[in-house]
Amino acid sequence: MHDGSGRIAVQNLTKHFGIVPAVQNLSFTVEPGSVTGFLGPNGAGKTTTLRMLLGLVTPTSGAATINGRPYAQLGNPARVVGAVLENEGFHSGRTARNHLRAYAAAIGVPDQRVDELLGLVGLTPAADRPAGSYSLGMRQRLSLATALLGDPQVLVLDEPSNGLDPEGIAWLRGFLQSFAKQGRTVLVSSHLLSEVEQMIDQVVIVSAGMTRYYGPLEQLRGAQRSRVLVQPADANALVTALQEAGVGEVQPAHDGRVAVTNATVQQIGDVAANAGVAVYGMEEEKADLEQLFFQLTSPQYVGGSLPPGQPPQQPPQPPHQPPGPPPGFPPGPPAGQPQNPYQAPGYQQPGQQGWGGGQ
Ligand SMILES: Nc1ncnc2c1ncn2[C@@H]1O[C@H](COP(=O)(O)OP(=O)(O)OP(=O)(O)O)[C@@H](O)[C@H]1O
Ligand SMILES: [Mg+2]
Repeated sequence: MHDGSGRIAVQNLTKHFGIVPAVQNLSFTVEPGSVTGFLGPNGAGKTTTLRMLLGLVTPTSGAATINGRPYAQLGNPARVVGAVLENEGFHSGRTARNHLRAYAAAIGVPDQRVDELLGLVGLTPAADRPAGSYSLGMRQRLSLATALLGDPQVLVLDEPSNGLDPEGIAWLRGFLQSFAKQGRTVLVSSHLLSEVEQMIDQVVIVSAGMTRYYGPLEQLRGAQRSRVLVQPADANALVTALQEAGVGEVQPAHDGRVAVTNATVQQIGDVAANAGVAVYGMEEEKADLEQLFFQLTSPQYVGGSLPPGQPPQQPPQPPHQPPGPPPGFPPGPPAGQPQNPYQAPGYQQPGQQGWGGGQ
């Protein structure tokens, strides 16, 4: 039997398709109670990893488990994990309602749940149209409804925002967050950080089949180096004063301003005041999270080596122990995080309203 923990564990997972190393020694764990983004550029190995997790591709080596078991050993897997993978086909002539009913029957779920889910994902008005005529966004909604049929503890979604309209994305964000808050597990992949940034708490970043970072998104944000651009009356005097005071790292900017990293506006202001240097303005600049993501994933495009100053691949760790932080990065989540109990009984549909309310 599985352990009911809601934990996804990927351990030294590797997959080669012929000479293509799609996934290389990938390790991470996903805990229940938060939404984890699985991020990386096109071809980074996200779908391949998720397919191995769901028992659809056999790993070359390593293991991927849900609740401590490989997918094939989960018993009634639809009750444990719901998944939406890319390019899922539907029987084109079958209506959405009949598609869901067929799946519901296969896993022993009553037809009433089909109607509930059609409402939840906003497909009730289109429920009796053939799924083959659905738009991309409508197919995503139908896939999600299918994944939710068994009221699973774990949800795995591959690029779920693809094709969704802004309202659908906003709904999905709210849905996934409340789903996770019930102590369930959500793993959602994307090649665009900006698309999922608002819906995720944890992040696993991969490129060229390797882990580049994993931990709380907040810590990744915290790793962004901010700098303060100062407009002084006398740039040389300010630079000297800051250096003598040992405040921040100082660099003259091209436009006569002085750029200071690792110092607060207040520290700089105090040094300037003590040195008698007039300051006409200060502007705080944060490095863009998207830029940081690009730096972390760019090795895929430059033959696998990391750019200077960037964290190397995380070393393999024992099962269920998130890896330590790469040098220069904030710590990852503590090992043996508290687990949220599985709260399947009495599960309420998150959110008050269905997806899009009806279309
Ligand atoms: N069945 C297959 N046969 C051969 N190569 C494959 C197969 N599936 C994936 N690959 C290769 O493995 C690598 C990883 O592909 P994968 O689909 O996992 O990437 P991805 O991160 O999901 O990308 P995307 O963001 O484009 O969806 C790519 O180089 C891809 O060409
Ligand atoms: Mg993919």
